Amino acid sequence: MVVIKKICCIGAGYVGGPTCSVIAQMCKDIAVTVVDVNAERIKAWNSDQLPIFEPGLQEVVESCRGQNLFFSTDIDKAIKEADLVFISVNTPSKTFGIGKGRAADLKYIEACARRIAEVGIGNKIVVEKSTVPVRAAESIRRIFNANTKCNLNLQVLSNPEFLAEGTAINDLKNPDRVLIGGDETPEGGKAIQALKSIYQRWVPENKIITTNTWSSELSKLAANAFLAQRISSINSISALCEATGADVEEVAHAIGTDQRIGSKFLKASIGFGGSCFQKDVLNLVYLCEALNLPEVARYWQQVIEINDYQRRRFAARVIGCLFNTVTDKKIGLLGFAFKKNTGDTSHKTESGGCLENADRGISRESSSIYVSKYLMDEGAKLHIFDPKVKKEQIIQDLSQTNICDDDPDRVSRLVTVALDPYEACKNAHAIVICTEWDMFKELDYEKIYKAMLKPAFIFDGRRILDGLHEKLQRIGFQVETIGKKVTELIPFTASKETSRNDLQAPAAKKLKI
Ligand code: UDX
Ligand code: ADP
Repeated sequence: MVVIKKICCIGAGYVGGPTCSVIAQMCKDIAVTVVDVNAERIKAWNSDQLPIFEPGLQEVVESCRGQNLFFSTDIDKAIKEADLVFISVNTPSKTFGIGKGRAADLKYIEACARRIAEVGIGNKIVVEKSTVPVRAAESIRRIFNANTKCNLNLQVLSNPEFLAEGTAINDLKNPDRVLIGGDETPEGGKAIQALKSIYQRWVPENKIITTNTWSSELSKLAANAFLAQRISSINSISALCEATGADVEEVAHAIGTDQRIGSKFLKASIGFGGSCFQKDVLNLVYLCEALNLPEVARYWQQVIEINDYQRRRFAARVIGCLFNTVTDKKIGLLGFAFKKNTGDTSHKTESGGCLENADRGISRESSSIYVSKYLMDEGAKLHIFDPKVKKEQIIQDLSQTNICDDDPDRVSRLVTVALDPYEACKNAHAIVICTEWDMFKELDYEKIYKAMLKPAFIFDGRRILDGLHEKLQRIGFQVETIGKKVTELIPFTASKETSRNDLQAPAAKKLKI
């Protein structure tokens, strides 16, 4: 039995940092060193201001930092000493070349593999934690085989991480499952057992699944694709609800009680955001195309298409309700993060930098960004409030070339970041809720209504105000909710023809839904 005494984790990001902090807390006899090329990020991990916001993380880090949990920039030393090395670096979509925007860029993984081969000695288990395309472990093995010295013996495992932002610590401490993939050889089996013995300290045996390497790698992509697909499925139904008078919350509840379907991830929204879903589905699509499976590729591509459609559709509904023009109208946009309990509008950094010092690349995927874009395209004046996302971040996200088109000044002309929600909504024509922050349920809507232009609209893109509809309507608001019939005020252009475009307001046509 291989005994693990020292662990090195390369990459102190959203995956590596929390994962290794929990491992250190659960295994006091194992020394865990998390390393990163980003000295600022490591400095933050060693301070009271951790580089990421995650409920419960601070407590976990403080319970073992300096005892058996270390954050360091001395990558080579940590690799040398470790019995087991996690590779937890970022795998962003490629920004140029073949597969641009879709294929995963494995340059950081490759750099780690080369480093391990260069400085490693003795027996080591190398574990892919980062999300990778199927057979990435094969590339790592080939790099090892071509570069490894005779005094180094490496086993490669796949152990994808399923944590979600905002619930990372709970996901790590009480996982639905831990997945370990490895070689079907005696050495592979021993490596799997060694990694399993770490998780067994706190995860029940029946929740630790072992598979071959490729199944493990593919399961991570497939899990994210299935989750994203559920959201696109319910969002497609939300469009039907709005057109018919059915209510998507009622439909989701009704179908979710079927145990085969299940109730989770059926919340209609303005579309999924975050660092993983879009990236991983596109990666899957690319993989299918590369493997000459065009039908499968098209199937998964549709998950992304519906997500884009939902964002455009919601923006078009706002414009349609506001009498088909939002030009120069003030709109209070509440919520910029891609979901609540995170300050992250997207975090994948091409450079691997942390948010604060971001030399950031691609993938700003919060749906709020796209809803903002479509409203800005029509000349709306956005006053944005989010309790966690910083002003610079909002400005930066909206200033990307694909968001501000050919007009770099339009963000300074059209966007104001508000310090509180009341300021964002004062003198506004409409409130647009984009993130489901709890605080938006508790606002003083009478006060907000009084300070708004009339008719005063609320567009609930997250279904967080369902319990308040009557109250809001009594106050005087016109409430428009995703997945519920559009109120009569909307100038529908429906005719006898039932073509899809005919069922949409002119603004929707303009946005090419
Ligand atoms: C996701 C996966 O859940 C996680 O397992 C994986 O490791 C990383 O990607 P994350 O992106 O942090 O995690 O957040 P998640 O809670 O999955 O939400 C993603 C997006 O989907 C958010 O924008 C959220 O608002 C949206 N969503 C989620 C919906 O619109 N409806 C739902 O029912 C659920
Ligand atoms: P994830 O969500 O996958 O954890 P992040 O971008 O949050 O992704 O974090 C990845 C981390 O990996 C970054 O802090 C980055 O600096 C680090 N990193 C990337 N390449 C290397 C490398 N070759 N050696 C060490 N650290 C690296």
